[in-house]
This record gives sequence, structure tokens and C-alpha cells, in this order.
Amino acid sequence: GSDFEHNKLDIFRNIVSHEIAKLSEKSPEEVYNLLETPKNSEHGDIAIAIPRLRIKGNPAEIAQSWVEKFVPNEYVISATAIGHFLNFKISHPLLAKILLQHIYDAKEKYGSNNSASGKTALIEFSSPNIAKPFHAGHLRSTIIGNFMGNVLEANGWKTIRMNYLGDWGKQYGLLAIGFEKYGSEEELLKDPIKHLYEVYVKINKDVETDKDVDDKARAYFKNMEEGDQTAIALWDKFRNLSIKKYKETYARLNINFDVYSGESQVSNKSMLDALALLKEKNLTQESQGAIIVDLKKYKLDVAVLQKTDGTTLYITRDVGAAIERYEKYKFDAMYYVVASQQDLHLKQLFKILELMGFDWVDRCKHINFGMVQGMSTRKGTAVFLDDILEQTKEVMHEVMKQNEKKYEQIEDPDMVADVIGMSAVMIQDMSAKRIRNYTFNWTRMFSFEGDTGPYIQYAHARLCSIQRNCGLSINPDAKIELLSEKPALELIDMISQYPDVVKSALYTLEPCTIVTYAMKLSHTVSVALETLWVMGAEREIAEARLLMYWASRITLGNSLKLLGLKPLERM
Ligand code: ARG
Repeated sequence: GSDFEHNKLDIFRNIVSHEIAKLSEKSPEEVYNLLETPKNSEHGDIAIAIPRLRIKGNPAEIAQSWVEKFVPNEYVISATAIGHFLNFKISHPLLAKILLQHIYDAKEKYGSNNSASGKTALIEFSSPNIAKPFHAGHLRSTIIGNFMGNVLEANGWKTIRMNYLGDWGKQYGLLAIGFEKYGSEEELLKDPIKHLYEVYVKINKDVETDKDVDDKARAYFKNMEEGDQTAIALWDKFRNLSIKKYKETYARLNINFDVYSGESQVSNKSMLDALALLKEKNLTQESQGAIIVDLKKYKLDVAVLQKTDGTTLYITRDVGAAIERYEKYKFDAMYYVVASQQDLHLKQLFKILELMGFDWVDRCKHINFGMVQGMSTRKGTAVFLDDILEQTKEVMHEVMKQNEKKYEQIEDPDMVADVIGMSAVMIQDMSAKRIRNYTFNWTRMFSFEGDTGPYIQYAHARLCSIQRNCGLSINPDAKIELLSEKPALELIDMISQYPDVVKSALYTLEPCTIVTYAMKLSHTVSVALETLWVMGAEREIAEARLLMYWASRITLGNSLKLLGLKPLERM
């Protein structure tokens, strides 16, 4: 069942290894590791360079003599010598048969592997700031971070998905003061995120004209950090209400966090311990009453870890948080999914941890990404995740209504509009390398043609409709060897690449690895559908095609799910 876990050619490679082992008197394991894929596929599917076997004699002559001794079998149909290479061709119909049977057994597991065997990864992503807009950077972090979690899981990792809220710092002292002045208990309960934002905007206006407010905020935050009970209680309330609301919104995106952490959750003790350790290692300096770490010799500027009034900063909390996380989770990897504007911040963080002597810093990685231009709602500039989702749905609804006849047939247009809309936003976001900036394009991303989310969803829905309407059921023993047309062979080959693509995404750490694959697969599907019909074909052919389309649907569905999208059955 799991022959495709490592490579689609595994069974065939095993057989070739045994053949060569017999001829060379080496062990099959040794030979297996030397096998290659010929650069030119016309030469064969599996090859070995004779010199790599380190045996006596002329490599080209050895290759030639082994070709003569080789007896073709059901799996490996021929051997040829080209220079010092020995090349083998495998039976492609048999490969297709094994592949489809494997997919039939694996279903939604097709493409996953267990190679990490239970290692733990912590992925920190989304991490919006309470009382401030959930901006495009947070949306990207949410989309990419969730994808990262899915890819790690598909490769056998255990994951901990963490939301590290921006909920601490002087500005939250300001928010508390603002709430005394402008806050309403009722509004807070209705929509905490919006209300706190409104309060925050008002009090920030006051600061501009009244210097007093700023001093008060500073003092309030100092109280918060010193553990003042009333201040903390109010703070907990803001935070819990906000988290409750965030959870609802994330649920719409099918995103779940294992942990809601945040800057406010980092203990004073771990920050003080960290400062003490830095001091002990002679890494800190005092500058006008503040404590700094000079990182200029690493070209990383200076990091301020404590202000003159004794309060902490963003980076201090990150140092404390990283140490606490390692102690708690003993992670094998930790990913920070954060915009590239914070490249310097994360480099400073990793450097400080390294200087402190934490060797696990090697397990930490910054997953950075570029900016999005032009993402704002139709009405204003402040953007909340909720508004983006609502607006996306509205626009998608309008697009769908343009095809009136089809629209009337859809059972739950609201849900469909929501899913296609999200697919549009998310695929647009994940189509290029993370680091590239892009412009949010409300028209292009909703198009049903080209490199868009709706295009992929449409291919999936078409495959579902074939299965629904053809009047046949899936037969895993269908005679797949009957499919010899070029579009069929190309489609089967495309499907067979999926497990390798899932693995390579773990190395590229790029969502576009999967998006590009899903696009190509959708395209190959639509080419095949032009000529290779299920309905109207002779029974055996129809069954074989249906099995092929069904396997394509599973594979496309699995890649959509990996990207964090719900595959649509009708649209
Ligand atoms: N809340 C931060 C922001 O909105 C992002 C947090 C990034 N993660 C971290 N560990 N510093 O900019």
C-alpha cells in the first residue's frame, strides 16, 4: 500500500537494485542508493553510472555485458548501455495500475508521508495586534502559516499552531486610559475588536494635543508590567473578548490555533532571567539608563531590551517567549511566519539567542513574505479580516450571478460564494514566491480563467460532476492499461508526481510549489476532458477513464486542502 510514500518508482527501483546486485555482487541496498533518473527520459526511467559501483574493469564494457545478461520481466522491460551508464525502462501501464490502486487505498492520505516520524514543529502565525487593524500582512501570515502547518503535517510532523497576539506595550496602557474615557461596556461585548479599535483611534488623537495623556499611558503600562490587579483584570477582559471574536473569524477560514499566546503572556521572570544571563555574559551595555545589546559587529544594529523606566520592549518579550516555548514544547523546529519588514527584528532575536548559548536557535526559522499593495475595503482604509471576507463573498456573488442559469441550480450559493471568494484571495496570495510583493487585484483574482483560485475549483467541480453523472461506480481494478492516448498518459504522470511535490514543498517552504502543481494538474485535466469522455465510451474504456478522473479529483482535492481550501463539488 505505501509504495508511493517515498517515490513513485520505488517498487521499480527495488527490482532494478536486485538485478544489479546479482550482476555486481553488491548488496541491493548499496545499489539502491546509487540509482538515478536519466536526464533524458527517452533513455529510460532508472539509471546507474557503473563507475559509482567501484568495481574493476572498463565501465562501458561492463554496462554492455550486463545488458546482454539482463532478462526482461513484467516490471522492467528493457536495459540499454549508453557510455558508462546502464539504463532501464519500466512498464508504464504497470506503473499506472499500481499508482491508481495505491490512490484508491490511500484516498485523502494520498501524497502524505511519515518521513518526520513524530517530530514537533511550532508554527507561529497570524499574530494580529489587539485594537489595531488586521492588515494585509496579517492576512498573508495567516494564509501562509496555515499552509506551513498543513505541509509539515503531510510530511509526518506534529504541529503546534500558535497565535502570538500583539497585546502588550505602552500603547496598551494608552488603550486602557482611552477605555476609561470613551469605552462602552455594551459596544465592547457587541464587537470587541471594532470597539477597541475605535477607542484606540480616539485616544491617539488626544495624545497629539495633550502630552499628559502620553505620560499617563506610560505610567499605566508600568503598572500593568508590575502586575497591578485591576489593570490586569481589565486587560484580561479585553483580551478574552477579542480572542473569542478572532476564533469566529478564523473558523470561517477553517483555521484552528492550538495556542493563543501573546506578548502579554510572556512572564516577567523569564525576561528578567534572560537579562541577567545576558549581563553575566557581558553582552549588555547601559545607555542613558536603558539596557542595550550592541549587535553592530554582526551588522544588526543595536537592540534595546529595557527602557529607562524599567519596562520591556517587543524584542525583550520575543526573547522571553522563545525560551519559554523551548522549555515547554522542546520543538524540533520553530517557524515565525512574519512579514519581511521584520527581517532585522528576527535576525536580532536569533543572534541574541545564539549569543546566550541556546543551540536550539538553529531550529528557528523566519518564514518571511513581501507586501500587498492596494488591499483596502471599498468604504475605508481600516481593514478587518471580517470585512475582507464579507467583501470577497459579495464580489463573488456578483460574479456568479452573471451566469443566471447556472446560479439558479446552486443549492447553497452563499457557501459557494464564500469558498470561491476565499479561494480567489488565497490562491492569488500563494501564486508567487513569498518574498515578492503583489498588488491585490479585485478583478483578476475572481476570473475563472488563468492562474486563479476559481479556475482550480472549477476543474475540481467538473471532475465531481463527471463522477455524479456517468452512471458508473469507481472500479479500482479497471483496466487502466487500456488508456494509451497522450492526454491520458500525461494526466496519469501528473497525478503520480504529487507525493514528490508534497515533499519538495517542505524544502522550498513555498506555497507556490503546491499552487503551481494544482494549476498544472487542472490544466492537464481540462486537456484530457476535451477528447477523453466517460459517457458514450465503451464500458471498459469508460471505467478506466472514470478511475483516472476520480484519482485526479482526489489528487486535486488533496492539494486544495493542503493549501487550506475546501474543494468544491458543485459551482
Ligand atoms: N504582532 C506582530 C505584528 O503585527 C507580529 C508578531 C510576530 N511574531 C513575533 N514573534 N514577533 O507586527
